[in-house]
Amino acid sequence: MSQVPSTSSSTPSNNDWKAGLRAPPKDFRPQTEDVTATKGLEFEDMFLRRELLMGIFEAGFEKPSPIQEEAIPIALAKRDVLARAKNGTGKTAAFVIPALQQIDVNKPKIQALLLVPTRELALQTSQVCKILGKHMGVQVMVTTGGTTLKDDILRLSESVHVLVGTPGRILDLAGKNVADLSECPVFVMDEADKLLSAEFAPVMEQLLSYLPSGRQVMLFSATFPLIVKDFKEKHMSSPYEINLMDELTLRGVTQYYAYVEERQKVHCLNTLFSKLQINQSIIFCNSTNRVELLAKKVTELGYSCFYSHAKMLQSHRNRVFHDFRNGVCRNLVCSDLLTRGIDIQAVNVVINFDFPKNSETYLHRIGRSGRFGHLGLAINLVTYEDRFNLYKIEQELGTEIQPIPQIIDKGLYVAPNATEEASAPQQKQTPQQQQQQRQAQAVASAAAPRAPAPTQGQVVYQSNGQHPRQNGGTPTGMTQAQLKAQAAYRGGQAPAAR
Ligand SMILES: Nc1ncnc2c1ncn2[C@@H]1O[C@H](COP(=O)(O)OP(=O)(O)OP(=O)(O)O)[C@@H](O)[C@H]1O
Ligand SMILES: [Mg+2]
Repeated sequence: MSQVPSTSSSTPSNNDWKAGLRAPPKDFRPQTEDVTATKGLEFEDMFLRRELLMGIFEAGFEKPSPIQEEAIPIALAKRDVLARAKNGTGKTAAFVIPALQQIDVNKPKIQALLLVPTRELALQTSQVCKILGKHMGVQVMVTTGGTTLKDDILRLSESVHVLVGTPGRILDLAGKNVADLSECPVFVMDEADKLLSAEFAPVMEQLLSYLPSGRQVMLFSATFPLIVKDFKEKHMSSPYEINLMDELTLRGVTQYYAYVEERQKVHCLNTLFSKLQINQSIIFCNSTNRVELLAKKVTELGYSCFYSHAKMLQSHRNRVFHDFRNGVCRNLVCSDLLTRGIDIQAVNVVINFDFPKNSETYLHRIGRSGRFGHLGLAINLVTYEDRFNLYKIEQELGTEIQPIPQIIDKGLYVAPNATEEASAPQQKQTPQQQQQQRQAQAVASAAAPRAPAPTQGQVVYQSNGQHPRQNGGTPTGMTQAQLKAQAAYRGGQAPAAR
């Protein structure tokens, strides 16, 4: 390990700076090259303040990941950065570390503005700032819609160095002269392509006008569609571009599809629950309505489940996010609200109950598993109507999603040293547990009667290895009769993951 540079006067001058710090227990799970293929740079080589190194050490980060290795030194040189790297490979710290390094804690001004598209992601990102900046005395504030403006105004009357939030609320605060961004030198857009979509782009433009002209602009995402080009030309000054996505999907995430009819989906999910070794799962639906309906069905089937979507009260959303993150519940049914950036290392299975419509959404969704190079499993329930999207997404991502096999090798998505409890198929809940869960979810509705157990012989999904695309991969379409014939149940056994 190389020498730690001596920094501010408040730090001890010897190299014993790790004494008294406690790193989290070492993670011995295997990791893929998505995070291990580095050039060998160390955090200590980056001329970071010692207090920041202490936070990095306590976060358990031993070495920078490839994106951190590429982006941090450039960002520290105050260049604009446009960085693309795979999901879960550490983009957050790649912008938080250089942002924190540039903070002067003696100056009571906002010195870094970190923008993200969702409230949950804002909470998570501010947590990362607090953890990494723990020893710096840096003041981090998070602000999002769905909370009381008055509280934010009060908070901003005190010192804030790093402001993390969603664009609408921050624009509101800047427009009211409550958030003073006039001396803020660092402007970061995480999930930048989302922040430049039609929904947010005008707000972003306005926000930028509150910052000084020489500010540093940094854009991060796993996906950069063309819309980013205009912004780059207009608002960035010769940005340093990083693209660590020669291939698009994560090496550790195995992807399968199950070809089903719409009415078979819940039964298929039930089978998956009983067969898979789910540590924690996220199940995506394409609408808020379907999220609630499915969550109810899953609960009726007797499995623990939370749900979250944009139409819920923010306090409920926060509670669900917090509790799921802390492992209170094994399964989370949600909309695309939680598709981007959410980092819960215990999630080893993602299920697209509804297949997404575009490849960006697909990529971000499946990237909720396999965090930081770990193993994960993505299962897509694909209907006749989804067949074109399946084909399109495979083409765009240059990947082939395989049909789900009869047996899914646990070695593909369960860490070898997982405890017995964590690696056993999940158990149905007792009525008491269900009651507790309902309270945690803050859903007032009374317990629904249990659904009849799935009958043997019911169709679960077609898994005869046949692809819903025929003729060598072109989506020619199949008739409903063909589909039914293919889906015929064989041998009285539900064919999921035996
Ligand atoms: N250098 C490191 N060493 C160990 N763990 C790390 C390191 N950097 C980041 N991590 C961990 O990796 C996980 C994923 O990081 P992060 O959420 O920043 O990924 P991301 O690239 O932003 O993903 P997404 O595209 O999904 O938003 C986090 O749990 C984080 O704590
Ligand atoms: Mg991220």
